[in-house]
Amino acid sequence: MAMNPLSSMGAAPDLSFYRETAERRAHAAQGYIHGTSMPERSRLATLNELSNGDFVRFLELSGTDHVLEVGSGLGILTSEVAARVPDGIIFGLERSEEQLEFALQQLDLVSGDMLPHLQFVQGDAHELPFSDASFDVVYCRYVLEHVASPLRVLQEMHRVLRPGGKVFLQEGNIYAVQFDPDCAKFEEVWRQFGHIQEKLGGDPAIGKRLFRLLAAAGFEAVSISLSPVLHRAGTEGFAPWVSVFSDILRTAEDSLAANGLPREETRAAIAELDAIRDRDDAAMFFYWNRAHGRRPT
Ligand SMILES: C[S@@+](CC[C@H](N)C(=O)[O-])C[C@H]1O[C@@H](n2cnc3c(N)ncnc32)[C@H](O)[C@@H]1O
Repeated sequence: MAMNPLSSMGAAPDLSFYRETAERRAHAAQGYIHGTSMPERSRLATLNELSNGDFVRFLELSGTDHVLEVGSGLGILTSEVAARVPDGIIFGLERSEEQLEFALQQLDLVSGDMLPHLQFVQGDAHELPFSDASFDVVYCRYVLEHVASPLRVLQEMHRVLRPGGKVFLQEGNIYAVQFDPDCAKFEEVWRQFGHIQEKLGGDPAIGKRLFRLLAAAGFEAVSISLSPVLHRAGTEGFAPWVSVFSDILRTAEDSLAANGLPREETRAAIAELDAIRDRDDAAMFFYWNRAHGRRPT
């Protein structure tokens, strides 16, 4: 019989911090901290450009897999994964109508036609509109940090996987980012950003909880790892990655202001990161948390 890794720990795991409340759910439904503005889409597209190659390799796909991406956003990653499963099927599930429309338009523009084995559907990750045991591989990236109940989303991902099917996750712990020289204003505003994300029903430190959550959702053979983002001035990735963080603040400025963070503080933090990006002696350190596991057979 498949073992739940947490069962060997004795006491029942404390998952009370993920108890889904109506209030949390309502906030998460409306309060996607990044929003869907054009500059935010552009930021997300850059993030895809910087991280997709490595993430697609992480997925261990075979060409005939039936695959689901939960929270597919602009569909950029979904379409790259589609190219790796030419004889399979891939669905992108996304809640936001605006993101879905954009995904469909872009794919149409780029390919002239939709790939026949790539489909996008609108829906909520907490209630996946698929039958049990439909997929060989289910993944999500940069999504669990925004949902009201990550545990419930993972239980849904478990349900729609066939027995023996694989789950892959990549999420962040925003507090892991560091710059040298220190950025005191950015650090203060970043902490506030995290508090506001929590207030909106999300979890800015979700990355470090992936093992506990996957195990609690019933997955076995759970493995955790880090995908480092280390850059110094003068290397190709340095300026774009520093800009990923300043652009998060730029595109969230309205949302942060609406939640009590004065615009001048956000702008001072952005200016500090812009100055770091232009130095020739600076460095940045971050990592994504990754996890994969299997639905027991
Ligand atoms: C940061 S984007 C990541 C998109 C994509 N996974 C990627 O890596 O490019 C997060 C996406 O999750 C979507 N999302 C948030 N909560 C969701 C939910 N409950 N169900 C489905 N999608 C959701 C948002 O609308 C947004 O498009």
